[in-house]
Amino acid sequence: MDIKVLSSVPKGNVYISGAKNATIPLLCASILAKGRVLLRNVPRISDVYDICNILRHLECRVAFKGHTMLIDNTNLKYKPLLLDECRRIRGSYYFIGSFLTLFSKCEIWLPGGCKIGSRPIDAHLKAFIDLGYQYKIEEDILTIYKAKTISKAGISLIKKSVGASINAVLAALCLDECVIENTLFEPEGLEALDFLRKIGFNIVLDKDRVTYKKNPIAFRLIKHNIIPDRMEAMTYAVLGLLNGDLTIRRVDTAALKVPLEILREAGFNISYTASEIIAKKSYGKNIYIKTGIYPGFPTDLQSIFGVLTLKSLGTSKIEECIFNDRMQIYYDLRESGVDCVIENNSCEISGVASFRAREYVACDLRHGAALLLLAIYSGEPVIIRNFDFVLRGYDDILNKMKSIGVKIQII
Ligand code: EPU
Repeated sequence: MDIKVLSSVPKGNVYISGAKNATIPLLCASILAKGRVLLRNVPRISDVYDICNILRHLECRVAFKGHTMLIDNTNLKYKPLLLDECRRIRGSYYFIGSFLTLFSKCEIWLPGGCKIGSRPIDAHLKAFIDLGYQYKIEEDILTIYKAKTISKAGISLIKKSVGASINAVLAALCLDECVIENTLFEPEGLEALDFLRKIGFNIVLDKDRVTYKKNPIAFRLIKHNIIPDRMEAMTYAVLGLLNGDLTIRRVDTAALKVPLEILREAGFNISYTASEIIAKKSYGKNIYIKTGIYPGFPTDLQSIFGVLTLKSLGTSKIEECIFNDRMQIYYDLRESGVDCVIENNSCEISGVASFRAREYVACDLRHGAALLLLAIYSGEPVIIRNFDFVLRGYDDILNKMKSIGVKIQII
């Protein structure tokens, strides 16, 4: 899908939806619940639709009305996960952990997702091996099978990884006891642990160490509310600072301490309470951003803040330390006339210079969102191609933008 963004001054209230990166593992973990799962505040994004199709393929019943989803696992069946949806998105790999616990095997396409670097899954695979499995990869199909039966395990992840931490926990839930060290849980991953505890799994997290002890799981209805999406909230906040006057509601600002403090210290016109952010058009001092694991600066906000450097006086510096190919926005800025010096995964940008927006092509979800902000700020009509990437992760973005006065035409 291609869009044309017309010059606008966004004003008003934006209500933040449920977090993409919390919803995806939860949906994949939902098959571990014996019975039904009721999820509220589920974002209507294409990654969620893809996971729902995978659940239906497994003969789960999924009813999705508004932002509430009811999943019924009564007829759940083992099936190979060789659907296009599995290779289109990244989060489908959380089905592997759930499958190993339920069926001791899994056959699935290697995960897809945004192309933001090499994104190996070696830490996941090593954890599965440590839990008694073996695997083979042939023509992009990953097959995992049980090599030995173990009832207890003590493993340490070879990489601090959000995905591997959740997947290792999901796969360990069939053991009697397990300790997993070197884990990494961001707020969205912590929510996955809370959800698993609601199902009845006895999971304790102490710093970066997870301990699990088996106990009987009862049949019952599990109810769960998804936490607000911190990336969506900050995207709208940056839009307000660039060119508008926005009140962002239903946010958990405690999960955004580092990015919010950077903006406040730089002198941007931003204020916030526990659940609300007010962001108004303003200039700030130059910023320095180095992405890191939580509670560090989130990589998912790096390109969004990259656009904000256009309103930062002086030279700002951005360093990407999580993914090795997530700098596309700076090449776009450079081609639009902004003074950007890009070196590997870092970039220095001289702010407050004039630039000439052109036609852009979104390469991934956050890059697409950053392009949208750039287009709205540019003051001239801008075409963005491949906008579908943005629909993977921003709930109802076209209507939300319309409600704050941003004019977008679908071409
Ligand atoms: N890594 C490995 N080996 C592994 C796993 C990861 O080397 O086995 C590396 C990755 O290549 C990367 C780093 O470790 O360089 C961090 O990867 P991690 O596993 O922590 O991230 P992820 O699970 O692939 C999730 C989110 C991302 C988000 C990151 C970091 C989902 C579906 N994806 O990715 O979300 O950027 O955590 O917070 O939850 C997005 O929303 O735009 C997005 C990309």
